[in-house]
Amino acid sequence: MNVDGTPYRTIWVGDDGRSVHIIDQTLLPHEFVTRTLSTVAEAAEAIKVMRVRGAPLIGATAAYGVCLALAEDPSDASLAQACETLSATRPTAVNLRWALDEMKTAVSTLAAGNRLDAAYAKAADISDDDVATCAAIGDHGLSLIREAWDATGWSRPVEILTHCNAGWLATVDWGTATAPIYKAHDGGIPIHVWVGETRPRNQGAGLTAWELAHHGVPHTVIVDNAGGHLMQRGRVDLCMTGTDRTTASGDVCNKIGTYLKALAARDNGVPFYVGLPHSTIDWTIRDGVRDIPIEERDGSEVTEISGRTRSGEVTTVQLTPDGSAAANFAFDVTPAHLVTALITERGVCDASVEGLASLYPERAKPAA
Ligand code: MRU
Repeated sequence: MNVDGTPYRTIWVGDDGRSVHIIDQTLLPHEFVTRTLSTVAEAAEAIKVMRVRGAPLIGATAAYGVCLALAEDPSDASLAQACETLSATRPTAVNLRWALDEMKTAVSTLAAGNRLDAAYAKAADISDDDVATCAAIGDHGLSLIREAWDATGWSRPVEILTHCNAGWLATVDWGTATAPIYKAHDGGIPIHVWVGETRPRNQGAGLTAWELAHHGVPHTVIVDNAGGHLMQRGRVDLCMTGTDRTTASGDVCNKIGTYLKALAARDNGVPFYVGLPHSTIDWTIRDGVRDIPIEERDGSEVTEISGRTRSGEVTTVQLTPDGSAAANFAFDVTPAHLVTALITERGVCDASVEGLASLYPERAKPAA
């Protein structure tokens, strides 16, 4: 997508063919800064402190992290150590494990001297595949937005509610939940997006709003708790979110608060759609509530908040009384029965074993 007229992906390799560059998302929306990752430790740090975040981008960064490790030392021990370091960064998004498995498969049988070029080629494939995948999610999701537009009798913009940032910043380009939104906007369907701020890290207020503003998509930031109210008043035509891990039965694990949005959507008859790439499906599990590890982050993300003062300084302030404990669960699971449909690169399907199996017959397995 474009940033002030310049096309960007969220991760790219420099002209030297080796250095890896990212947008530092911890500084958005107030500063747009790119950084260079030179070592696997820097790649792991970028994932852990969320300079890069969002399930697909975490996977792509891990892939390039393996490249950086092999550039220093292409041995088996270095490969194993890199995968261990990177896989320990964040537990919930399954794309991390998926990307590391892809990298290991691509290089582990090669002689050490041949590994580096193969690793960069594979990481580039993973990135390019994510771009193509998200664009296809956009095409399939567009048909759902067009249906909603038809249902309004072309009388007013389609009202879409989203949560967190499942935008191009969370992927390599396009986004998952936002790909249909960008395609609808670019295709002339009038839309308006309600952007949930997404405490505690405010990926909605800081990142999704920034993206939509840069692309000229009409949007309004709301506090997380306003979603149910808007749905009750008929001011949301459809919800569109991403997912960090989708079970083989269609449960979706996404940013904390997604479940509450899905409950409100069900109570108000609002369709709840989830956009996802194949790399987000964990075919090894069916029960998301029981089997998906939920990341717990530092309580300071709850007790403190960062922002720009009127004088332009970016600062962090404390919100809670001294001594109050804080719990910071980063994700929750929305059971499949609350999801109207999954939007994948292969099409739209029911959030169910049968639905996913119809799109990915080669991956579907009988129940364990
Ligand atoms: O903690 P984050 O910011 O990495 O969480 C991101 C999300 O929950 C996104 O909605 C999810 O990764 C889907 S993105 C394409």
